[in-house]
Amino acid sequence: MSFRVEGKQSVFQTDREQIKDLVVAVYGTLSDLLSVASNKLGIKASYLYNGKGGLIDDIALIRDDDVLYVSEGDSYIDPQTDPGTAEELTGSYTDWLTLNVGGRYFTTTRSTLVNKEPESMLAHMFRDKDAWGNKQDHKGAFLIDRSPEYFEPILNYLRHGQLIVNEGINLMGVLEEATFFGIESLIEQLDVAIKTSQPADDHSPISRKEFVRFLLATPTKLELRCQGLNFSGADLSKLDLRYINFKMANLSRCNLSHVNLCCANLERADLSGAVLDGANLQGVKMLCSNAEGASLKGCNFEDPSGLKANLEGANLKGVDMEGSQMTGINLRVATLKNAKLKNCNLRGATLAGTDLENCDLSGCDLQEANLRGSNVKGAIFEEMLTPLHMSQSVR
Ligand SMILES: *[C@@H]1O[C@H](CO)[C@@H](O)[C@H](O)[C@H]1NC(C)=O
Ligand SMILES: *[C@@H]1O[C@H](CO)[C@@H](O)[C@H](O)[C@H]1NC(C)=O
Ligand SMILES: *[C@@H]1O[C@H](CO)[C@@H](O)[C@H](O)[C@H]1NC(C)=O
Repeated sequence: MSFRVEGKQSVFQTDREQIKDLVVAVYGTLSDLLSVASNKLGIKASYLYNGKGGLIDDIALIRDDDVLYVSEGDSYIDPQTDPGTAEELTGSYTDWLTLNVGGRYFTTTRSTLVNKEPESMLAHMFRDKDAWGNKQDHKGAFLIDRSPEYFEPILNYLRHGQLIVNEGINLMGVLEEATFFGIESLIEQLDVAIKTSQPADDHSPISRKEFVRFLLATPTKLELRCQGLNFSGADLSKLDLRYINFKMANLSRCNLSHVNLCCANLERADLSGAVLDGANLQGVKMLCSNAEGASLKGCNFEDPSGLKANLEGANLKGVDMEGSQMTGINLRVATLKNAKLKNCNLRGATLAGTDLENCDLSGCDLQEANLRGSNVKGAIFEEMLTPLHMSQSVR
């Protein structure tokens, strides 16, 4: 690669279109100039030659209108007599480039980014020079707005094929980046690593602190796999837990007040004695969950988009759901024995086969609720907002 000096300015001439004729001032030392050349040309410039192949070892030797050649270590080849060189360099992907990933610099070769995973996004970004219009920072490094600590193990994997993640780096974060960059073979390895890193025989509950760290490292669109995990007694109040898979998790005696569990999956989860007051439970799946003795005061189960909360077969013995918004909720064959459902909105709710023995339903709106086959023995129906029709209740 060559560049021409114009009145103490260099005009870099390269095969990379976007910086052809870039004008750069020549000042400082030779190594300054080499590092400018490295950054601008995306190579590791080590030697500088004049047009006749003479090695330049002092910036003072450079004259106006000199044509200079930089090399990464190879000896001088006159491009005039060897026209194949430029093509070879582009074609073989051996050139160095520097990436600026979230503020940290990584220097690597194009072949590292391209050859190991040819179908990945990284390969597509860097295979054809500048085909993607990659943005560069003031030092000429390609800008990638992703997290550097998760990128590092990915780059090392592309270099030597080994997945090595330093302690303290969340594997879920690395997985997210591997997914983002489309490094398929690494995704599989990370899945295995994540599974084996979860202590199999340690059933001690996960604390709020651990869980929040976990949450922050995971984007909202990624489904969190909390299936079967033990959170017993944890304070998870006020957290955004939308779409999380809590199937069969132990959330007994957890503080879940004012959480957002919209569309979360709590199938067969243990919620006994938990406090969910003021929680957002729109579209929640709680099939066959055990929420015995839980407090669910002032919860919102009503999804305006029509996605119905499903609590079929749940154990809701003795729960306090006072003042909850439960329009259209599915409580089929659930057990609500001794539950407090005062002033709930149960319009259009499915209560077929539901055990409502000794349940306090005073002040409820049960319009168009389906109570067929429900057990209403000892249930309290005072101050109902709409009269209960006999057709609604069979027993
Ligand atoms: C979860 O943690 C609680 C409290 O430490 C413990 O009693 C229980 O056995 C643990 N395991 C499961 C599977 O819930
Ligand atoms: C959940 O943890 C509690 C202890 O906090 C324990 O008594 C209970 O058996 C656990 N539930 C399940 C389903 O393992
Ligand atoms: C649950 O958390 C809320 C808010 O963080 C707090 O006000 C409340 O006292 C807690 N409830 C229980 C039962 O620990």
